[in-house]
Amino acid sequence: MQFDKVFGTKDQDSLVDLYAKYVSEPKASFFKQIGLGVIQAKREGIKIHMLEGQGGNRPLELIDCHTSGGVFNLGHHHPEIDRTLKKGLDLGLDIGDHHLLSEQRALLAKQLADLLPGTISKTMFSVGGGEAIDLAIKLSRAYTKRKKIISAKRAYHGVTGFALGASAPSFKDPFFWDSPDFVQIPFADPDALKKSINEDTACVLFETIPATGGILIPPEGYFAEVRELCDENNVVMIADEVQTGLGRTGELWGIYGGLYPKEKVVPDIIVLAKGMSSGVYPLSTTSYKPELESVFEGDPFLHISTTGGSELGCYVTRRMLGIISDSSFLAHITKVGSLFGKGLLKLKNEFSDKIIDVRGRGLMWGVEFIDEFTSLHFVLSSVRNGVFCDYCGNNKATSKFLPPLIISENEIEELLERLTAALMNL
Ligand SMILES: Cc1ncc(COP(=O)(O)O)c(C=O)c1O
Repeated sequence: MQFDKVFGTKDQDSLVDLYAKYVSEPKASFFKQIGLGVIQAKREGIKIHMLEGQGGNRPLELIDCHTSGGVFNLGHHHPEIDRTLKKGLDLGLDIGDHHLLSEQRALLAKQLADLLPGTISKTMFSVGGGEAIDLAIKLSRAYTKRKKIISAKRAYHGVTGFALGASAPSFKDPFFWDSPDFVQIPFADPDALKKSINEDTACVLFETIPATGGILIPPEGYFAEVRELCDENNVVMIADEVQTGLGRTGELWGIYGGLYPKEKVVPDIIVLAKGMSSGVYPLSTTSYKPELESVFEGDPFLHISTTGGSELGCYVTRRMLGIISDSSFLAHITKVGSLFGKGLLKLKNEFSDKIIDVRGRGLMWGVEFIDEFTSLHFVLSSVRNGVFCDYCGNNKATSKFLPPLIISENEIEELLERLTAALMNL
């Protein structure tokens, strides 16, 4: 067995076959069909390099605009993150016993409390976003002693139990996941919310900018109205900031100034994941107002995550939060984000026969095409021209772009050139 090499232990085609045989045949076939039957190899900064040795016109190097939804907010192998991970191991950290009290969890939770809006100051840890959303819903149900969960049509909150229930039918119907407790209403429709919120409602759960739903930007005032309706009905307001949190919009939190500078809405719970891992150690959080902690008064072990909140992960995340919350870093995101947005709008004007809308905030953008066919072909053409992006799973006519937040102005120019080529070659 080879352990001194991680990329290219076998040739490209043998590795694709191995993946098909032992991981997923349908996935391998899908990627082969679209011309991406290649194995990801070295990653650095904003780029993903594919394993060499393949023929044809398959790309060797891609600008990462997928970033797994923000996992690679700091790009690939940010030197400070790599150093911190290695140092944490050297200093003696591992996952840590999940029942025992933890220094690293306490330090990270305090750092988060200082950055989160309003009185949100308590944090529990999980491994992934779905698990953290599940906990948010559990908290709201136990606290209100009510069952109903209101979320948006086309939402995506994860594939675990409650998170799946709150997500779009395309993800849950194949598993016969059907419960009257989950009610889905159109996003950014205050009347629909007024009609469905009532004395049975435990929580209202929305992504601040629905990503899988099509990078939808709600009108100014919408989330303030959601807050008001939740207050009037004693309902817990949950913000899924898994993609919009941690600087993505140019502000630390999408819900608190990231959507509209003057709109600073404080939900009761904020869920973070993806970028919390800094790309190297899975970690997610459910942060909430202190009154919700009463749920655990009778039994502090009511909710458990054995590997959630790893001490090593917390140590790395503390470093990541330090970088991301720096005001000059946030200003950088706003600057390059506006450059990128302007470039995309220019492309909309140049290719108005194909693109019908461009929308976004900071470094989170959606490009809506005239139809799904054009959008899917654009994604393929982007890959052929050296950009890894994706279409929105619940709104396929829209392609989405979440480049690493560390992207430079020059790299934005390079990205726009590649996208122009992708559109010209469509
Ligand atoms: C907005 C949002 N919430 C929650 C999740 C679930 O996160 P995870 O895949 O880590 O469970 C995702 C994942 O894509 C997401 O985009």
